[in-house]
Amino acid sequence: MQKIKAALLGYGTVGQGIQEVIHQYQERFRLLLGKEVEIAAVLVQNPAKQRDLPENVLVTTDFEEIITLPDLNVVLEAIVGEEPALTYLRRSLNKGIHVITANKMMFARHARELLETARENKVHIGFEATTAGGTPIIRTIDQLLQVNRVEKVEAILNGTSNYILTAMNDRFIDFDTALTEAQEKGYAEADPTHDIDGTDAFNKLMILSQLIYGEQPDWLNVRKTGINSLTEADIQHAKQENKKYKHIGVIKKEGNTIIAEVSPVLLSSTHPLHHIDGVDNALAITSDIVGTITLTGPGAGKLPTASAMVEDLVQIFQKEHAEFYEKISEKHAAV
Ligand SMILES: NC(=O)c1ccc[n+]([C@@H]2O[C@H](COP(=O)([O-])OP(=O)(O)OC[C@H]3O[C@@H](n4cnc5c(N)ncnc54)[C@H](OP(=O)(O)O)[C@@H]3O)[C@@H](O)[C@H]2O)c1
Repeated sequence: MQKIKAALLGYGTVGQGIQEVIHQYQERFRLLLGKEVEIAAVLVQNPAKQRDLPENVLVTTDFEEIITLPDLNVVLEAIVGEEPALTYLRRSLNKGIHVITANKMMFARHARELLETARENKVHIGFEATTAGGTPIIRTIDQLLQVNRVEKVEAILNGTSNYILTAMNDRFIDFDTALTEAQEKGYAEADPTHDIDGTDAFNKLMILSQLIYGEQPDWLNVRKTGINSLTEADIQHAKQENKKYKHIGVIKKEGNTIIAEVSPVLLSSTHPLHHIDGVDNALAITSDIVGTITLTGPGAGKLPTASAMVEDLVQIFQKEHAEFYEKISEKHAAV
């Protein structure tokens, strides 16, 4: 059986999820692609940590050992921060290796360059996992709304802040108690600043902008307000009026200008995002033909994020397969 040779950058929550899913779902890959997927190498930072990996998997802290692996087909990236992730992905694409990333912080800033580099090198870059985790928003917009023009997206893009707002609303607890609870349950990052100040939602909104409009607004013109500006009294007052505060990212175009904002918004009970509670993410996409579609699902976590990445993988290799046969039939038609 032929194999797709993959390298994993990062073996934390997401990396381990990818390894687990790839190991468990070989039968699906055989059926869908006619090939198995082999994780040949894993890049980590701390060589002293114990890793639960098969013996034949190369575990290294040196990216040179990854990029020089013979016949490497795809790099799945799940490390943290802009660098060295960006450099690693650039080098992979330039070497003709497909890339799949979960790194929203890096991708928000460098999506344009990486998409262009992928195009130039005739390879693909999958980024479903960067936005709303396991909820397939990227593919919905990119492939299922091709004739429709997306006019506006309103979205809950951070599970931690949604959890906190839900807890404050439903159980009358204060912001700090709700945040501590989210951390204890493993929903919030050890440093939750970017969850609650809107930076994480902002990054995802910029990725959506790149996808929908092919560009991003000037970051300095995007207003970003966190949920820490809300008090218990604000939330309870809203509840009395049958309304809820939700942390909403909005993106739309007015004329040629992209308007984007992340802020707490008071929603009436008829709004499609009013009932999205707990750690879920949700996106209300308004398009010119279909109207408003709402997608809801897990916005983070080991398996949902790994799910998005392996779905990207299958799609990339199905595309590669189709492109290969297209070339062959063109060649036959020419002779
Ligand atoms: N967790 C989620 O639910 C989720 C959801 C969507 C997207 N993401 C994104 O996915 C990425 C990974 O998240 P995570 O939660 O899996 O993080 P994590 O648990 O902290 O794991 C990060 C992994 O990357 C490795 N790493 C970090 N810096 C590195 C470097 N410079 N060189 C080589 N390896 C390095 C770490 O190595 P060591 O093991 O040696 O420390 C670790 O294995 C992040 O960009 C995050 O924003 C996460």
